[in-house]
Amino acid sequence: MKIENINIPLMISGNLIENINLNDNYYRMRIEAPQIARKAKPGQFVMLSMWETKDPFLKRPFSFHNIEPDLGTFDILYKEIGKGTQIMVKSKVGDLVELIGPLGNGFMIPENTNNIAVVARGIGIATLMPLILESKKRGIAIYAFLSAQTGSLLLCSNEINSISEKVFYTTDDGSKGAKGIVTNFLENVLKEEVIDVVYVCGSKRLTKHIRNLQRKYNFLAFVSLEEHMACGIGACKGCVHKTKDGYKRVCKEGPIFPVEEVIFDD
Ligand SMILES: Cc1cc2nc3c(=O)[nH]c(=O)nc-3n(C[C@H](O)[C@H](O)[C@H](O)COP(=O)(O)OP(=O)(O)OC[C@H]3O[C@@H](n4cnc5c(N)ncnc54)[C@H](O)[C@@H]3O)c2cc1C
Ligand code: FES
Repeated sequence: MKIENINIPLMISGNLIENINLNDNYYRMRIEAPQIARKAKPGQFVMLSMWETKDPFLKRPFSFHNIEPDLGTFDILYKEIGKGTQIMVKSKVGDLVELIGPLGNGFMIPENTNNIAVVARGIGIATLMPLILESKKRGIAIYAFLSAQTGSLLLCSNEINSISEKVFYTTDDGSKGAKGIVTNFLENVLKEEVIDVVYVCGSKRLTKHIRNLQRKYNFLAFVSLEEHMACGIGACKGCVHKTKDGYKRVCKEGPIFPVEEVIFDD
């Protein structure tokens, strides 16, 4: 299945207009960059830097989390894990953000889709949230399957709860929902009804489970892959991932791929 690229990326500066701590090491940043906000689609991403240093040097990729084309803003939901995100955490309202985007192919929602399932592990919900909102706008029923280490890290759960048909949670410590694998709940739903499309982000393990379920229940499924990126625009081949048709650039042919095309070696 071919997924067309839908945008020519812009290289511009944006303004940081909000940067708040949500929980532990999870943050939400709001960036004003009208040209990008007007073109951005769910599942696409930006390459971003807020540093002019040699270390970190390269821009970092982040998905659009909430897109407000009319306000000219978009949000990034991010986890502090290394040098770049540490600088992001310390950034202040009014700081400039160097951006390249929108990048990547974005999610495809087939015509006549009645319902979808979204399966997110941890920060994976950052990428899936605009898809959830877009699906809601189109009157598509949403089944959400959310998984995290602990209950407080089930991000956006109130918002998702308020717009979804059903929400299922699992946490590693059992503090919210069940312990165990969230795709077991998906299988229970699939036994009862047809799900048109399943979207997954944030876990190879869950993606592999979805591939197994797909063989059994025959539905469309897409995964948003995350690879280390250097250029973000298809030039360096630093982000390739193995697929049935050879290696593909996650930044250019992806980051969204049909689940059945992706090969995980481990
Ligand atoms: C298309 C795409 C969309 C993304 N969207 C988001 C998002 O919405 N929110 C978010 O928090 N993160 C997202 N990421 C991941 C994000 O880009 C990385 O967390 C970020 O680049 C880390 O930068 P850093 O300088 O803080 O960490 P670094 O100092 O570069 O790395 C710190 C540690 O994290 C590891 N690491 C870095 N990047 C990745 C990665 N992509 N996968 C696995 N391990 C990694 C490194 O190996 C290292 O061990 C996305 C990645 C891609 C490819
Ligand atoms: S990051 Fe350079 S080709 Fe994808």
